[in-house]
Amino acid sequence: MRIVSIRSYLVFVCFAIISLWLLFYFVGVGRVQNLSRAGLSDVKEKLKVKEKIMKTSFSWQLTNLVHDNQVLLEKLKVGILQHKNILLDKMRSEVSAQNALEAKQISLDQEILAPHPTLIKTTSTLKTEPPDIQENVAEKIQNVKDDNDEFMIPIMITACNRPSVSRCLDKLFSVRGSQVDNFPIIVSQDCGDKATADVLNGYGDKITFVKHDPEPVPQGVKSNLVGYYKIASHYKFAINQAFHHFPSADSIIILEDDIEIAPDFLSYFKEMHELMKKDQTLWCASAWNDNGKTSQVDATEKGAELLYRTDFFPGLGWLLKRSLWEEELVSKWPQAFWDDWMREPEQRKGRSCIRPEVSRTSTFGRKGVSAGQFFDTHLKYIKLNEFPVDWSTKDLSYLVKDNYDKSFKDKVYNLPLFRISDLKENKDPDSREVRIEYTMSHTFKAFAKELGLMSDFKKGVPRTAYMGIVTTIFRGRRVYLAPPVDWTGYVESWS
Ligand code: UD1
Ligand code: MN
Repeated sequence: MRIVSIRSYLVFVCFAIISLWLLFYFVGVGRVQNLSRAGLSDVKEKLKVKEKIMKTSFSWQLTNLVHDNQVLLEKLKVGILQHKNILLDKMRSEVSAQNALEAKQISLDQEILAPHPTLIKTTSTLKTEPPDIQENVAEKIQNVKDDNDEFMIPIMITACNRPSVSRCLDKLFSVRGSQVDNFPIIVSQDCGDKATADVLNGYGDKITFVKHDPEPVPQGVKSNLVGYYKIASHYKFAINQAFHHFPSADSIIILEDDIEIAPDFLSYFKEMHELMKKDQTLWCASAWNDNGKTSQVDATEKGAELLYRTDFFPGLGWLLKRSLWEEELVSKWPQAFWDDWMREPEQRKGRSCIRPEVSRTSTFGRKGVSAGQFFDTHLKYIKLNEFPVDWSTKDLSYLVKDNYDKSFKDKVYNLPLFRISDLKENKDPDSREVRIEYTMSHTFKAFAKELGLMSDFKKGVPRTAYMGIVTTIFRGRRVYLAPPVDWTGYVESWS
């Protein structure tokens, strides 16, 4: 019994030793062998590789982490911007609702008729104009019409605290040339900034200079929105002043102090003024293309002649009729966000504006009431037209609604239907003009982003849209981003 138990004891010990050895072999030595399979012989090298593997995986993880964080940051940025826009839109609607209520209580006739007590006409000495290369072209354009034209369209400019308003004015003078009586200039200054007032006084009687006494902003308005209230109340004052000061004018051109004009700006507005007399469905003409970055427009000489109707009020250099102002707008002018208010159906009433393919204005106001980020990401890239057009020689009757709508629609809906991916893959390069279809607000937004277009809506209307259609250039091709052919109208809730 004893011998048997010692034997089994020994067998057991041997078995245990073998098992432990095997275990050690597979776990420990097996690992080293794996490294050997990679072609390495000594332990030092193996350790180096191990270290390298660890380092690579660490730096890979780190890169991933940094990338993830960047993505997160971008998402956060977009989120914050969207949230800010939603808040702004909400506040805008609240202000509009309040405006609508208040408008009913205001009796305005006095405001339109009585001259403002702060009206100042300056008489100081003339300022010399800087030479301008484009002056000759502008002179040529204006000389064609000078002899027999008895029209007057005053230009009203709002100013505040930018002495660089001189850039806006000097360009205007150089483009205006001898058409002084056709395009008199009135500058209205808000904010009471002395440096800016000095600059404006320096122009003497070349301009009519009026000053606006800022009105108190309603209590409780958030500090980042105060500027929008000031601008709106100044606009009302300044427009009233322009029409008051030039009683025979039936329209004015509205500019801002940080806007520079193209050489054919005045020639364009002169013809727009005529066109708007023929078509009551036009309630404005603008010099601005919201989607007018260089790569998005036809920047050729031919492209400079392209004009469109748009349902989206562009602002930024636009023509306002006295009748529209006095009979409709002044009595309900909003307390803030005047431009978005203009885009509401209650004001627009289904009417449209004319806008060019290539902008006739550009803005140089990086710092302003809106955050400068928008300037750096978008506004500064808007192309200012380089090929002056003599608009007096152009037949613009195709822009009248009765002529335009059917031919525009026929043209767009007869184009080949493409997908965004087709464009990116440069499918069928011979199709120089194509259509992309969107059916929902989110598809519009997604496609607009792919095409590099502004993707926001104001009361359901995308920027530059006409009959829901937005046109642009993408990789050299003309693209129409269009709703289905049976489109019946803008959906106000699209935002
Ligand atoms: C943006 C718009 C502008 C619009 C404004 C109001 C762009 C590029 N600009 O202004 O067309 O009118 O929102 O919605 O989209 N001003 C005053 N009082 C003030 C502050 C400014 O009269 O207290 C004047 C400025 O001199 C300027 C105009 O208002 O002529 C616009 O002000 P700016 O600071 O340029 O603001 P934006 O962000 O460009
Ligand atoms: Mn500005």
